Amino acid sequence: MDTSLARPSHAAPAWHESFSNSLIAGLGKTPKEIACKYFYDEAGSHLFERICQLPEYYQTRTETSLLFRHADEIARLIGDDVEIVEFGAGSLRKVRILLDAVANIRAYTPLDISGDYLTNVVQVLAANYPALFLRPLIADFTGPLELAPLPGNPRRIGFFPGSTIGNFKPAAAVALLGRMRASLEGGGLLIGVDLAKDPARLHAAYNDSTGVTARFNKNLLVRANRELGADFDLDAFAHYAPYNPVEHRIEMYLVSLKRQRVTLCGKHFDFVADEPVHTEDSHKYTIESFREMAVRAGFNPRAVWTDEERLFSVHWLETR
Ligand SMILES: C[S@@+](CC[C@H](N)C(=O)[O-])C[C@H]1O[C@@H](n2cnc3c(N)ncnc32)[C@H](O)[C@@H]1O
Repeated sequence: MDTSLARPSHAAPAWHESFSNSLIAGLGKTPKEIACKYFYDEAGSHLFERICQLPEYYQTRTETSLLFRHADEIARLIGDDVEIVEFGAGSLRKVRILLDAVANIRAYTPLDISGDYLTNVVQVLAANYPALFLRPLIADFTGPLELAPLPGNPRRIGFFPGSTIGNFKPAAAVALLGRMRASLEGGGLLIGVDLAKDPARLHAAYNDSTGVTARFNKNLLVRANRELGADFDLDAFAHYAPYNPVEHRIEMYLVSLKRQRVTLCGKHFDFVADEPVHTEDSHKYTIESFREMAVRAGFNPRAVWTDEERLFSVHWLETR
């Protein structure tokens, strides 16, 4: 195996600088916030994988079983001789279902912000699929999505599982889907979307009994301490993740447990007791509301698959 093919290239400038700029800007706001994409350094990606295995986190196993169950139909819709571009590729586990079902995949382009983690999982995938042409990309999909065309211009299929689209407010989600659509012209997007449901079930999924989600949330502070020399006291912040039934979303916060001052990059940030720092939203949709959103982004929604309990949905959206 020529592992040089599987070494990710950077479409990113200095992450260190952008994490610090973003953190300083976010902690200067009222209410304070930290962008959720910074959860994902190598430790954050590993913690997310542990979340995926939690009994309360129904999303991963439901989406995976939908992909398995409908793999033949999905493969027929995707067609053959395609490039698959996975946005926010994570562990690269789910794409294996497509790699096994779709005929003649010309290339697989996994794109993720979590560079070290992507480098490791790509090596494993390359060993398991030695004939697959891989072009991994360390990139932020909220930035430009200009992907170099491959020789012969195979149709491009986007794959965006994990309901990562839910991390964007609806208007930003439409804008992101619109940019993805532009990069997939002539192809389509296979996307996983978590569905609105009993708030207690949602609450449990983001407040697991073993505290892995709390560790994932606090990894933002661990990362700021390690990478930026910040002095966050991890015990002085609490994970808090309520469901907002008006906005149909889980909202994740780190709440300051006392009045405190944090210093990073030579700047001071004061927290009052009980002050929240917003770290993530996870919007939940109905099948219909998501399809309407896809139409607003310029897609033509075609097939949709859901489970018996209507917990999760997988949508096939065409660009024409
Ligand atoms: C919710 S996880 C989903 C992972 C995987 N797709 C799955 O379905 O299990 C989100 C993934 O997107 C990546 N990610 C988050 N924000 C990103 C961004 N702005 N640009 C690129 N990747 C991002 C994270 O590193 C992580 O791998």
